[in-house]
Amino acid sequence: MSHPDSDLDCNPTDNRHFQDVIREVLASPSRRNLLRGGLGLAGLAMLPGCASLATGGSSGPVKALGFPATAKSLADDVILPPGYRYAVIHATGDSLDPKVAAYSNAGTETDDWSRRIGDHHDGMDVYFIDANGRYTERDTGRAVLVVNHESSADAHYMHPSGQTSGGVSGKKFTQFGDWDLGARPELEVLKEINHHGVSIVEIVRTAQGWRMKGDSPLNRRVTAQTPVRIAGPRAHIEEIRAQMVTMWDTSGSMSRGTLNNCGHGKTPWGTYLACEENWAFYFQTTAGGAPLSPKEIASRRRYGVASAPPAADRRTSISQGWHTVSATDDRFSRWNLVPGGANAERDFRHEANTFGYNVEIDPLNANSTPVKRVIMGRMAHEAAVHSLPVAGQPLAFYMGCDARNEYIYKFVSAAVWDPKDIGGGINAGDKYLNEGKLYAARFDASGKGEWIELHLRDPRIANYAPFRFANQGEVYVHTRLAADAVGATKMDRPEWGAVNPRNGEVYFTLTNNNAANRTPDRVDAANPRAYTDTDGKKSAGNPNGHIIRFREDGVAATATTFTWDIFLFGAESTMGEPNLSRLSAGNDFSSPDGLWFSPATGICWIQTDDGAYTDVTNCMLLAAIPGQVGDGSKVTVNNRMVANGAERTGTQETFIGAALGEARLRRFLVGPKGSEITGITETPDGRTLFVNIQHPGEEAKSIASPQSLWPGNKGYGRPGRARSATIVITRDDGGVIGA
Ligand code: FEO
Ligand code: CA
Ligand code: CA
Ligand code: CA
Repeated sequence: MSHPDSDLDCNPTDNRHFQDVIREVLASPSRRNLLRGGLGLAGLAMLPGCASLATGGSSGPVKALGFPATAKSLADDVILPPGYRYAVIHATGDSLDPKVAAYSNAGTETDDWSRRIGDHHDGMDVYFIDANGRYTERDTGRAVLVVNHESSADAHYMHPSGQTSGGVSGKKFTQFGDWDLGARPELEVLKEINHHGVSIVEIVRTAQGWRMKGDSPLNRRVTAQTPVRIAGPRAHIEEIRAQMVTMWDTSGSMSRGTLNNCGHGKTPWGTYLACEENWAFYFQTTAGGAPLSPKEIASRRRYGVASAPPAADRRTSISQGWHTVSATDDRFSRWNLVPGGANAERDFRHEANTFGYNVEIDPLNANSTPVKRVIMGRMAHEAAVHSLPVAGQPLAFYMGCDARNEYIYKFVSAAVWDPKDIGGGINAGDKYLNEGKLYAARFDASGKGEWIELHLRDPRIANYAPFRFANQGEVYVHTRLAADAVGATKMDRPEWGAVNPRNGEVYFTLTNNNAANRTPDRVDAANPRAYTDTDGKKSAGNPNGHIIRFREDGVAATATTFTWDIFLFGAESTMGEPNLSRLSAGNDFSSPDGLWFSPATGICWIQTDDGAYTDVTNCMLLAAIPGQVGDGSKVTVNNRMVANGAERTGTQETFIGAALGEARLRRFLVGPKGSEITGITETPDGRTLFVNIQHPGEEAKSIASPQSLWPGNKGYGRPGRARSATIVITRDDGGVIGA
């Protein structure tokens, strides 16, 4: 094997003894903390059996997948292997307050969405509650389920006949479409503002399985208008606040709400990170007011925020029209970025600067204020996953910015991990997530990569002509521009990351890229494919995406160099050359998005959000038993792409992991029509899997002609419109999922 560092190979057959010891330790949560604290990753890495180590659960790592591959499906249901079942735990609109009526599923609610489950379920996690009401990693049968709502522009199902645009109800039906000018109805906009954000609900295990506790005092919503605190490093917090000043808080220390929460993070101390992804599309800049500075224009354009009224800037002027309700009621006027006041304290020109962060929430403290962690950078945050915690060592958080040609980032805490902080809530967050270093990734053709710190002391940032950074606080708020300056690698849309608990390797889904951005002459080693999908639904570029992975040098959170390879390439199994991972009928997939390792089984779960292969199958969840970075080989990709009638060819060398075959990669679940499969977690014993079904029926052209009727068609709630939902998956025999 020519790939560097491929000698770090752990032989699972030699280490029964070590695994037994570790499993015994892992069986007790307090000893598990000891393991993480005392022995830690450095100790684990020295064990010959590291490739088979799982850091949780009682079942041990899975060595073979224990279910037959689920066939591709176009059915309007969740399809599972034989012997598995699912139940809906909650769906869009469910009441989380006994005083709020059951969901009509006809769009007839009033403005009570801040007491209902939001829309577009996405990233999620479970937080167990001990007898004293405190956070525990032990399964107590009582937990808080936190779910992101990636509610986006298609809010039509919230209203009787769709969203109103230009005075016509139901006229607008496509995501991010243009709006006619004219005021939108206040009630519609309030409903939309409040179905965004995060749902936090108590769930309990009953004889019938996990159920939502509809009257729990822990049930709450964080919406697009919940007050949140702006936090950042001591040395730069005033520089940050200066960019957050609005007429709602002239000190810039507080703002309102969170938007488009996509992937998430669970911190080692037991809080939740809601990541803000496509927040840029909610703002408009109407005519008039003071002229924007060149820096304001440069930053707004780099983030896709409207910097001018629609006629002058159609590229960035799509919005939700929330600002159209009122120019004086700041629940609505805040969405208009026009510098119409005498200064930033008299208008909302800075409002978009308050979005694009990881938002920390303490799920078990219903009175706590969510916090925007500005030092983790401002971007289209997809998810934030942490390195394996090692006592006495800093923590790393890995983050993708999901848009075409955007970057992968990491934040490394200044504070070193102390397991005593478990259960420390937002105070622990203030310790770990306000001080540290922010990096962007460069993937090199050699198979190595480098983390480049985004700091003003780098002359490339200090002297960056397209945006003259005045201070380090601006680096955190205009992160994409700083990463541009240092030459980070443009990726094929970074979605979720995941960290393999067995060896600390970091995986990232790169969901896809289009023909305008990937052509045979515009590829690189980390994004090596440009091809044409010629059958059925046709597309070009890298329409099926891939999954990259890397191992930090020394498996250290603080490493500034790493070794990478490509774990899997998505493809249709019949594609020929582009099917580099040799996928077959039982495991071919397209557009990976959600990604997560089960600590109980070691299974790498892959979820798809696809539009390229949906003529053949709905989106899916696959299970993989991965190897490790360097277990494959160096390959030459032969690219051939036909776009706009012209054929282009080229070759690109890259590194690809060992082919898994259906023995180690298998389709587990296929979702309902038009849905995305996203969000995944499980109970520590690996016997209950929680999965989110987002936007079933998304491709409908109108409410009158639905694409999906799920889950109402399967007996959940009032039949009618399709709804996003969290499902729980169990085995009929009570066994471990996937094993
Ligand atoms: Fe919200 Fe990038 O998917
Ligand atoms: Ca096709
Ligand atoms: Ca996603
Ligand atoms: Ca996606």
